Amino acid sequence: MESAVLSRIGLAGLAVMGQNLALNIAEKGFPISVYNRTTSKVDETVSRASDEGSLPVSGHHSPREFVLSIRRPRSIILLVKAGNPVDQTISALLPFLDPGDSIIDGGNEWYELTERRQREAASHGLLYLGMGVSGGEDGARHGPSLMPGGHLQAYKNVEEILVRAAAQVDDGPCVTFVGEGGAGNFVKMVHNGIEYGDMQLIAEAYDVLRSAGGLSNSEIAAVFEEWNRGELESFLVEITADIFCVPDEHSGGELVDKILDKTGMKGTGKWTVQQAAELSIAAPTIAASLDSRYLSGLKDERVAAAEVLKQAGMESGLLSGRSIDKKKLIDDVRQALYASKICSYAQGMNLLRAKSEEKGWNLNLGELARIWKGGCIIRARFLDRIKKAYERNRGLANLIVDPEFAREMVQRQAAWRRVVGLAVEVGISTPGMCASLAYFDTYRRARLPANLVQAQRDYFGAHTYERVDHPGSFHTEWSKIARKTKSGAAGVFN
Ligand code: 6PG
Repeated sequence: MESAVLSRIGLAGLAVMGQNLALNIAEKGFPISVYNRTTSKVDETVSRASDEGSLPVSGHHSPREFVLSIRRPRSIILLVKAGNPVDQTISALLPFLDPGDSIIDGGNEWYELTERRQREAASHGLLYLGMGVSGGEDGARHGPSLMPGGHLQAYKNVEEILVRAAAQVDDGPCVTFVGEGGAGNFVKMVHNGIEYGDMQLIAEAYDVLRSAGGLSNSEIAAVFEEWNRGELESFLVEITADIFCVPDEHSGGELVDKILDKTGMKGTGKWTVQQAAELSIAAPTIAASLDSRYLSGLKDERVAAAEVLKQAGMESGLLSGRSIDKKKLIDDVRQALYASKICSYAQGMNLLRAKSEEKGWNLNLGELARIWKGGCIIRARFLDRIKKAYERNRGLANLIVDPEFAREMVQRQAAWRRVVGLAVEVGISTPGMCASLAYFDTYRRARLPANLVQAQRDYFGAHTYERVDHPGSFHTEWSKIARKTKSGAAGVFN
């Protein structure tokens, strides 16, 4: 017989994210059982629960005791490292689970692993969700953005909890049932790809302001703070402003200048770029941000290259010293950042749509933009406008051609070109902004030089081409005709 003391839900995996999400759920009034293989984490969580307001958290040291402490049908959130640890945790819990119970993996998992586990779970009569969780430590504790996908019934069983635990914005909680299969993990993966793009674009804006504009850290902090009051308002711009204010306690100046310029990563950005390639979706801004991380990792090589090129006559520092109007530069960079971001989000959204079509997930892009408005790392004011763009037109081919965004792109393009042009001229690498601008310029041009590439392909490989004036596919004996033409026209060319 089930007793009233059973928990409403369980959570296994009590590292930073797990611990904070458990406390968040408990704080919303849902008694929760927690478990971790290293039992000290269990005790730590229970003691935090008591310190943070006698929250209803019950700790368990054995998987059996943990599972049996949860009300049926049980729902258990896993927040362990993606990959093998998820399988190991499931194996530890499985003997005690009953048909109808649900497993909810909240890690940054590869979506196909979730789909494999869903099939295995189903063979035991279990339900399974892969749930993207974004927002870091603070988000997990006070309201993350949640992206659950998989068995709908598993979602229904915990909907009331997720709705309360998620971040709340003007148009509701930042959670929605994303779709079947691995849709939740896939959406979170693309969120992270967009996160990479945003971070890279912000870093480029910083570099242009610092290197070309000569702004100090405190001036840069003020600029980002100002930007955070306008169209660029977002979590990443807000924390960037904070970062430039933090002093270095060891040697003076600001800490940001003492941080080694090598970016780490855990893999979701790489998966995003791989998936974009698989699905033939151009995602150059996100790819540029990934490449920038790879190149940043080659610190020793870059230091050596700078020396070799200096010996070969390369100027160090900026390549030209033209005078800069700081105020104008700041305003131009703001516009370049905004326009570049729109292109990056357009790429992420198009990748989501392509996958949705391939898998039949029926993803609602407007709703995804909505649940990213709060809680997550890419939360930003302009996500509301992206949401509205997809509400206006669910089949929108590209964010750039939504009438509102189109107008904004056109308004900002002159400033955007000035920033990219300046960066190219003085030798500051801005791969994200350049990739976004090239994406825009490619997409907006009704005719591209792809005709020549087709001609080349047909020339050396008889790959055929289409014509602009007649349907069908054509092949031309290019070399033969060219030889004949050249010999016939010899008089003209000589
Ligand atoms: C989030 C983040 C998070 C991610 C980190 C680190 O939404 O809370 O996306 O899930 O793991 O941002 O990612 P990298 O180490 O790959 O930069």
